[in-house]
Amino acid sequence: MFDATTIRKDFPLILERQVHGKRLVYLDSAATSQKPRAVIDAMARYYEEYNANVHRGVHALAEEATEAFEAARAAVARFVGADPRGCVFTKNATEALNLVAYSYARRRLGEGDILLTTQMEHHANLVPWQLVQPEAGFELRYVPVTPDGRLDRTAFDEIVGTGRVKLFAVTHMSNVVGTINPVAELAGAVRAASPEAVVVVDGAQSVPHLPTDVLALDADFLCFSGHKMLGPTGIGVLAARPELLEAMPPFLGGGEMISNVTLEGTTFNEVPYKFEAGTPPIAEAVGLHAAVDYLSTLGMDAVRRHELDLLGHAIGALEAVEGVTVHGPHQPSDRGAAVSFAIAGLHPHDIGTIMDREGVAVRAGHHCAKPLVRTLGSAATTRASFYIYNTVEEIPALVDAIEATKRFFTR
Ligand SMILES: Cc1ncc(COP(=O)(O)O)c(C=O)c1O
Repeated sequence: MFDATTIRKDFPLILERQVHGKRLVYLDSAATSQKPRAVIDAMARYYEEYNANVHRGVHALAEEATEAFEAARAAVARFVGADPRGCVFTKNATEALNLVAYSYARRRLGEGDILLTTQMEHHANLVPWQLVQPEAGFELRYVPVTPDGRLDRTAFDEIVGTGRVKLFAVTHMSNVVGTINPVAELAGAVRAASPEAVVVVDGAQSVPHLPTDVLALDADFLCFSGHKMLGPTGIGVLAARPELLEAMPPFLGGGEMISNVTLEGTTFNEVPYKFEAGTPPIAEAVGLHAAVDYLSTLGMDAVRRHELDLLGHAIGALEAVEGVTVHGPHQPSDRGAAVSFAIAGLHPHDIGTIMDREGVAVRAGHHCAKPLVRTLGSAATTRASFYIYNTVEEIPALVDAIEATKRFFTR
């Protein structure tokens, strides 16, 4: 049975931390989640009991570390329904997206092709494409966003209808307005018009919060970060179709990713190792394994149900506050648990600062999605984001902090 009050006991920081003399209400999980004791302990156990480098050693510790590292890969792959051979450990979602930009888009797209992404994206799903565009020569197009924070389907259909889209990169869930995009439906439309197109899904916000199956999503590449899903920083995942990875050149060169090196040239290791140059994030993989085990035990359907409950309460409570506007879809079923809002006449940085003094941690700024935030008619928003350890009882604290902020600035 999913019970957030019990779950909170597994998170030392959530349970014990005070800020400014008040019990912390942590509403910034879209930036990074807190970590359960199981993750912290698994990483400590690795360092205390079997710390060694992976793949190269013949001694017992190296074998144990390698086994744990590969078990982590298998568990993470299972968590998103992917083939472990297609699961590359990267530094974060950003690096996974850069890998696709440099090793796929730069090589496989050219003059006359369209790389289609959207105005809803995090910079991690915009800048890599912009970086490789001049060399590759493809046309970079963006699906506009409607005033209620959804993708403009008419504009999407028009661009896709050209039959020239060879790569479609889209976020599954917006980190600003929370919108959940109908990825499989969009992917189907792209493939119907351009059968050779590939679909890249930014799952940084969705994989931690929604049941995810890479085949059901119809994604060729799915990118996400460990630290937003109870795992440590320093590890991300690219879950790709192995045959696509096999046909792609390496992204980074060095140890581990080679089969043979002579001074004349190099042959590369098989996938996914071809894309894991240098010592990989071993402790982090062990931590991420513990994180996906923790989430799987709760059940991702139950995680989603809990967040729908929180969203229903939070959106209703925020809308009831005079002067507050909630951005993005208002129907909880259309969105995830990242809720951006505005308070009339107040700047998000001022709001975030005063709310912090009330013990409520929210994020203020452009959330690394400047083109999207501009469509909201602003340079910044205040964002409250929820996760498994948040309770409905914390929502009045959010509202009280907003009321305190309004009072502070009208004194
Ligand atoms: C939608 C989305 N994509 C990508 C990223 C990048 O994640 P990371 O900084 O872990 O690489 C984020 C981080 O906030 C995000 O919200």
